Amino acid sequence: MDHSVITVENLSKRYIIGHQRAPTDGVRHVIEAAVRSPFRWLRSRNQEKKAQREEFWALNDVSFDVKRGEVVGLIGGNGAGKSTILKILSRITEPTKGRIQLEGRSASLLEVGTGFHPELTGRENIFLNGAILGMSKEEIKRKFDEIVAFSEIEKFLDTPVKRYSSGMYVRLAFAVAAHLDPDILIVDEVLAVGDVTFQKKCLGKMQEAQARSRTVLFVSHNLSAVEAFCTRGIVLSKGRVVFDGPTKPAIQHYLDSLRGTRPPSYGDVIDLCAFGSRPDRYPPQLRTLRLYDETGRPLGGNLSAGAGMKATIHVELEQPAANVNAEISFLTLDGDRVCTASSAYEKCRDESRLSGSVVFRCEIPSLPLVAGDYKLNVGLYIGQTEADLVEDAARVAVSWSDYYGTGVAPMHGVFLLNNRWAVATAADMVLA
Ligand SMILES: Nc1ncnc2c1ncn2[C@@H]1O[C@H](COP(=O)(O)OP(=O)(O)O)[C@@H](O)[C@H]1O
Ligand SMILES: [Mg+2]
Repeated sequence: MDHSVITVENLSKRYIIGHQRAPTDGVRHVIEAAVRSPFRWLRSRNQEKKAQREEFWALNDVSFDVKRGEVVGLIGGNGAGKSTILKILSRITEPTKGRIQLEGRSASLLEVGTGFHPELTGRENIFLNGAILGMSKEEIKRKFDEIVAFSEIEKFLDTPVKRYSSGMYVRLAFAVAAHLDPDILIVDEVLAVGDVTFQKKCLGKMQEAQARSRTVLFVSHNLSAVEAFCTRGIVLSKGRVVFDGPTKPAIQHYLDSLRGTRPPSYGDVIDLCAFGSRPDRYPPQLRTLRLYDETGRPLGGNLSAGAGMKATIHVELEQPAANVNAEISFLTLDGDRVCTASSAYEKCRDESRLSGSVVFRCEIPSLPLVAGDYKLNVGLYIGQTEADLVEDAARVAVSWSDYYGTGVAPMHGVFLLNNRWAVATAADMVLA
């Protein structure tokens, strides 16, 4: 049990980034420039060549080893280097420095597009993959039916896989990788593609592998799956290991680092996918928040007190659902909720069944808040249940304005109250 089956020592990977020209700078553009001004063209080409070769270290001195039977989750934001590690371990790409060692048979399920031969049919690819894994034809034949049943692509077995949808592709790839019973199973982000039922099947299969003391290396954005399933978490940031230990603290470390490094956004287009403030049991169905002023121009993080604003929330529903509502709530920087805008408050709201991409548009004719900074939380509800939540998704700075048209307005408190006053003296009251 104590035996290392994966050893990674001082692994580094350098990519040379080629700066691509814009697509409009095609051949014709180059020829035109060369003809118009040959010397300038040559000079600029030399400068370009230098600028084009920029080094980038996707992995920087990464070391860890994995014992037999461990299920390790690689955790980290986009570009952290997770896929690069898995590709090196699957020998799809070479390390620049360092070394790796794997013991036993390994099977990898990487991003769609690796592992299968596009021209071959599903059936042929099953045999090809089995052969690559070192299995005999007999062995593959014995498992063939099980693989097909698991993948649910029976009807398309004799279709070239290049015609498969990404979902079908991943189902087949996972079925092959899992059923060929490798000693080491390497899985990158497959759960992002399949539907929920298939994801459950995959997790079940990986759990089975673990029960048979197989080793699993697993990458997923779905942190609750990582938590439920992995025995250990390795957190990567900018190509380095920043935490290696039990899963729960590893996830916590990752979430904390997100909170720490993400500056509050006063921007206009906010990517809601990667927020660490999202409870980790929620799949990211809230995708993008856009903020505009009342005329529809980007808000620029600033609003004068009492002015109106508009927002759109782009949602990707995991599965069709009825009675879906989105909301934006405004909070003080201390976290006290001031007010909430919700599609559920709409009189003629749409309770019909929605699926896939949905955009909620919100219009707030006036936001009568006292000058200061406010946090926005964005929530998604299906029926009465909270389905997604991003806290402190954006911030808006409300600036002082002449809300009452009198030159005075409060600097304290939270909201601007509409109010009327009359003043009477004691003498007036006696008369009344
Ligand atoms: N073939 C490549 N050429 C240049 N840069 C690459 C290549 N593959 C990956 N990268 C870069 O390396 C970094 C790590 O990528 P990757 O391992 O895919 O990250 P992750 O899977 O954690 O999101 C990213 O910044 C990515 O842009
Ligand atoms: Mg990746």
